[in-house]
Amino acid sequence: MKRYENYSLLAHNTFGMDVRAALFVEYDTVDELRAFVLSADFARYDRHLHIGSGSNLLFGGDYRGIVMHSALRDLEVVAEDDNHLWVRVGSGYVWDDFVGHCVAQGWAGVENLSAIPGEVGASAVQNIGAYGVEVRDVIDRVEAMALDGTLRTFTNEECRYGYRDSVFKAEMRGQYIITHVTYRLDRVPTYRLDYGDLRVRVEADGEPTLQAVRNAVTAIRDSKLPDPKVLGNAGSFFTNPVIPRTQYEALKAEYPTMPSYPIDDTRVKVPAGWLIDSAGWKGRALGRAAVHDRQALVLVNLGGATGREVMTLAERICEDVYNKYGIRITPEVNFID
Ligand code: EPU
Repeated sequence: MKRYENYSLLAHNTFGMDVRAALFVEYDTVDELRAFVLSADFARYDRHLHIGSGSNLLFGGDYRGIVMHSALRDLEVVAEDDNHLWVRVGSGYVWDDFVGHCVAQGWAGVENLSAIPGEVGASAVQNIGAYGVEVRDVIDRVEAMALDGTLRTFTNEECRYGYRDSVFKAEMRGQYIITHVTYRLDRVPTYRLDYGDLRVRVEADGEPTLQAVRNAVTAIRDSKLPDPKVLGNAGSFFTNPVIPRTQYEALKAEYPTMPSYPIDDTRVKVPAGWLIDSAGWKGRALGRAAVHDRQALVLVNLGGATGREVMTLAERICEDVYNKYGIRITPEVNFID
């Protein structure tokens, strides 16, 4: 186990905030994690935060507690039948390496989720999603440790997945640490290509393959989303709001180009990127924080911005969007103050 005091988190958050953790701990085994949560060291601090690769976090300043990170990176096929494989993966496995491994093996189900930053544990907390697929579609079960050192297995249903949401973000926030996730993958792919121009890109080279989907998704993401190594960011800063259909229809009459995705008979999801863009914020800066010029849903650190500066920009955007459309948009990124 690695243990550092007053540790710089610069390499652990994609927004590029140079803040420190009072204590940083990285464990290599489940037993090490148990020993740590039961230790006097753990009890000494009144707050803790578990991070993956820090790609969905915004630090407001130094963190005066414990920041924990998993180095559990085992991967094992634990069951198979004629159609499926169940793959159990350690929470610290880099998500996109897992997707790459699945595609190389011919295991289908996660190829649309290529190039998403982060790690396996966070995938199950956040219910990551892109290009018509959410990870809940392939999660079979999640193993997690409670702070008393006991292990619990959550079925997919018990994870209570919703759009970018789970039990681990809601009523059980901070109470469990995910150690392993078991994914159920398909031997025969069902291609999901109906989002945006994915089909056109994938079929340009002939019959779809898992690798062609992975390449196309990666290319689309690279063309829109800034590289955090160049421009600090945490992907989509806001979630896409879900509004009543009646409100959408009234808005659509006024703003005919407003896109939407149906949720059910009474609700639709509206892209926050479109709302921010058409409220005139795309590419605009406020101090050292800015709205990305190719995807308005992404806020970026122009260099040296503080978490507060980014939050001030986010608040101004929310206000303008609300004043123009009567829709409240909320951050997807976790602000840690
Ligand atoms: N749009 C604009 N202007 C913009 C950005 C978007 O008009 O600046 C419009 C687009 O033209 C399109 C619509 O908004 O009609 C949707 O845009 P896009 O396909 O880029 O997707 P998104 O809704 O902005 C969501 C996810 C992304 C995911 C993509 C693709 C959320 C919060 N974001 O973005 O996830 O990659 O769909 O599935 O749901 C992330 O969560 O960090 C993330 C990047």
